[in-house]
Amino acid sequence: SAAEKGGWDSFMDKEIHEDPAAVQRTLLGRFDTNGDITLDEVRIDEHDFKSIDKIIVVACGTASYAGQVAKYAIEHWVRIPVEIELAHEFRYRDPILTPRTLVVAISQSGETMDTLMALRHAREQGSKVLAICNTQGASIPRESDAVLYTHAGPEVAVASTKAFVAQITAAYLLGLYLAQVKGAMFRDEIHQMLDSLKDMPRKIQWVLDTQPKTIQAAAERMVNANSFLFLGRHVGYPVALEGALKLKEIAYTFTEGFAAGELKHGPIALVDEGEPVVFIVPPQRGRNVLHAKVISGIEEVKARGAYIIAVAEQGDPDVERYADVVFWRPACPTLMSPLVDVVPLQLFAMDMAKLKGYDVDKPRNLAKSVTVE
Ligand code: G6P
Repeated sequence: SAAEKGGWDSFMDKEIHEDPAAVQRTLLGRFDTNGDITLDEVRIDEHDFKSIDKIIVVACGTASYAGQVAKYAIEHWVRIPVEIELAHEFRYRDPILTPRTLVVAISQSGETMDTLMALRHAREQGSKVLAICNTQGASIPRESDAVLYTHAGPEVAVASTKAFVAQITAAYLLGLYLAQVKGAMFRDEIHQMLDSLKDMPRKIQWVLDTQPKTIQAAAERMVNANSFLFLGRHVGYPVALEGALKLKEIAYTFTEGFAAGELKHGPIALVDEGEPVVFIVPPQRGRNVLHAKVISGIEEVKARGAYIIAVAEQGDPDVERYADVVFWRPACPTLMSPLVDVVPLQLFAMDMAKLKGYDVDKPRNLAKSVTVE
């Protein structure tokens, strides 16, 4: 009913607008009075956490892209290897699991059978499993050794939106907690990262307040496009994959997401006059080597006549020069950028689907939670 949708015309609309709250609520109650992370509910003791020497994330769909984002952050912060694998591939390749491997199962519903089977396999091999889940008491958290709940609130629309930003937030808390117990970072550095994380709801809100008109206009212009390429580097790569997934799930548009560095190794062959290409542009400061590389990718496809949509930092002059449309984001550290960069892509997919007259909450052929293997 209209009341359940909180005045929005779809659950997807409502849930995208809950992105800031999803991040905020997932951070709530996770700090002690000194501002250090406490994950009391997690029930794996500090000694066991200290001995973890590898993480394997298992998940499907959108949750797997949240895991892919977390890999960049956790490896950088904790200096232990993080693998990310689709849950349905994981079990069948005889993965290397030891008691010091932490398997992190990410699932919004907590009922995805592929993910459940993967975690059962990991536990049989003697590894500890931690679930990042949005649904209290679901099968995946029940069968795990520990659970870190995302507090995004119930997600009804089939295409996952607010759960994604909450999953990244929870995985980042886990990573920074590991850095804390392992002494992998200085306390000040951890607190600085946490401050940036706590600032993200406000930045996401800025996008929701200022960008929808531009996004709607872009969707109107591109509604008849047959295909889209999505490109990003570093944490922008999984964001590109998620943006591509959203558009195929609900607007039934053929999309491909690629690592921007792969462009010259194949995808550029697809670029023709008018082909829409979406670039996730890294922040200008910090890792600006990557920024320059993405900009040169934009130049290359622009030279072949592509129609460029960029997600970029406010006022980025290189982007202004080449892009046909820009969805702006406020400045933020590179590792935080996925939390905000995915938001315009969620809105864009929704606008495209609505313009095509599709039911954005119930796309054809898809289920909210896939409880069969
Ligand atoms: C289904 C949904 C996707 C979701 C995936 C994983 O395919 O349509 O939106 O990302 O399952 O779901 P989970 O509940 O495990 O996060």
